[in-house]
Amino acid sequence: MTTAPALGGSFTTAQGLTLTRTGYGAMQLAGPGVWGPPADRDEAVRVVRAAIDAGVNHIDTADFYGPHVTNEIVRDALTAADDVHVVTKVGSVRGDDGAWLHARSPEQLREQVVSNLRTLGTDVLDVVNLRVGGGADGHSPVPGSLAEPFGALAQMRDEGLVRHLGLSVVDADQVAEAQAIAPVVTVQNWYNLAHRGDEALIASLAEQRVAYTAFWPLGGFSPLQSGTLDAVAGRLGAAPQAVALAWLLQRSPNMVVIPGTSKVAHLRENLAAAQLVLPDDVVAGLDTVAG
Ligand SMILES: NC(=O)c1ccc[n+]([C@@H]2O[C@H](COP(=O)([O-])OP(=O)(O)OC[C@H]3O[C@@H](n4cnc5c(N)ncnc54)[C@H](OP(=O)(O)O)[C@@H]3O)[C@@H](O)[C@H]2O)c1
Repeated sequence: MTTAPALGGSFTTAQGLTLTRTGYGAMQLAGPGVWGPPADRDEAVRVVRAAIDAGVNHIDTADFYGPHVTNEIVRDALTAADDVHVVTKVGSVRGDDGAWLHARSPEQLREQVVSNLRTLGTDVLDVVNLRVGGGADGHSPVPGSLAEPFGALAQMRDEGLVRHLGLSVVDADQVAEAQAIAPVVTVQNWYNLAHRGDEALIASLAEQRVAYTAFWPLGGFSPLQSGTLDAVAGRLGAAPQAVALAWLLQRSPNMVVIPGTSKVAHLRENLAAAQLVLPDDVVAGLDTVAG
């Protein structure tokens, strides 16, 4: 049987940042509701370590996960010898009750960058995504200028606090506005088999050699549920999660996935998924899943 390259190979952005197309999303390593520490912190560190040892060079995190909890787990899993890109996000903080609050003034963004430096234990942040949107569902782009917050991050990049900038929960106009201020290496939006709509944006980013990072590739807090997906998985003798990840990786060369898991066994399944090659008729069938 034909197999794809391990981890789906890699994608190199116009800025020369090379990411393995299968990364790892650390959000759900925090406690329930992405709040507080996990029940088994040692296992959480082992999951991140297992991802790195398997060749994943792209870990997605944020200081507002926990808060601070997943950044500190990622920090503790890394060694100085690891050649890993840690991608963090700014633009939100957590309230005392766990609420997710927008925090995008230049002063707030600087505080968040400084906090990320501390909790990740580094002098420079590799990639910082400005999380912009929200809207009724909390995770969709909301049109409007991002010049002030992105300009503030560009300033911090010029100061050497940040190496690369990205965006999250944005539309095409916001990407264009940001690209005119400073180079964007990745756009991280909600995208999976059952939640689509960014096709034109993905193609445009591919032309600009910007990575499109799909968050919630497995459905996030609401696992993907589809009879078509289950049927395909049964036919191929693969887990539905593996098929969902393989489908994403076959969509575009600039597609990067960051599946999250708190279990080493699930991590290994998710990494192996990248080598699953879906035949054209299977892809066509999956394309009909409501998205
Ligand atoms: N930019 C943004 O606004 C934004 C928003 C949300 C998330 N994110 C990023 O996206 C990453 C991924 O999101 P996510 O972790 O919430 O959702 P996800 O990757 O879509 O799904 C994770 C869920 O699937 C389960 N799972 C993973 N692998 C599995 C497998 N092989 N078999 C069965 N179940 C499996 C996990 O449970 P187990 O722990 O039991 O495996 C977990 O409940 C996050 O870590 C975060 O870094 C970004």
